[in-house]
Amino acid sequence: MYDFQPIATSSQDELYQQLCDAAVALTAGEPDPVANMANLAALIWDFVPNLNWAGFYRMQSNAQNGELVLGPFIGRPACIRIPLGMGVCGTAALKGVTILVDDVESFPGHISCDAKSRSELVVPIKKGESVVAVIDLDSPEPNRFKDIDARGIEKLASLINERI
Ligand code: SME
Repeated sequence: MYDFQPIATSSQDELYQQLCDAAVALTAGEPDPVANMANLAALIWDFVPNLNWAGFYRMQSNAQNGELVLGPFIGRPACIRIPLGMGVCGTAALKGVTILVDDVESFPGHISCDAKSRSELVVPIKKGESVVAVIDLDSPEPNRFKDIDARGIEKLASLINERI
């Protein structure tokens, strides 16, 4: 049995270090990207408090410029395909940058998948210069995500980019 549990800490740095250590250990030696994304979504859910959705959208090519397609996640069923440049996820993927949204209603074009979501953090996962997926976190709490959360999830993305 895998038993990666967050150890109670008041330090956000420490919490994200624990998450990153668990993520690296849990995906070590496993080549299947779906299995790894599924376990990573579950780990994020366990380690990061106050979420109502945590998971992946994967970059896929289509007849136009490419689009994001839903990957493994924890939370309510979500929209399946997001065109590049649309919503928070599509914008983060197109620009290759992290986007932190304090209030989802103030983000033009935000795509609502769960009416409870109030704030959101989207971090691109890159292989070299190419965005291959994004990690999407939603919270029912406004202003939930801070720079320290963005840096923590970016660190995670950089550690598991070759495993998904
Ligand atoms: N809110 C996202 C869509 C995905 S869900 O939140 C799971 C967006 O605007 O891209």
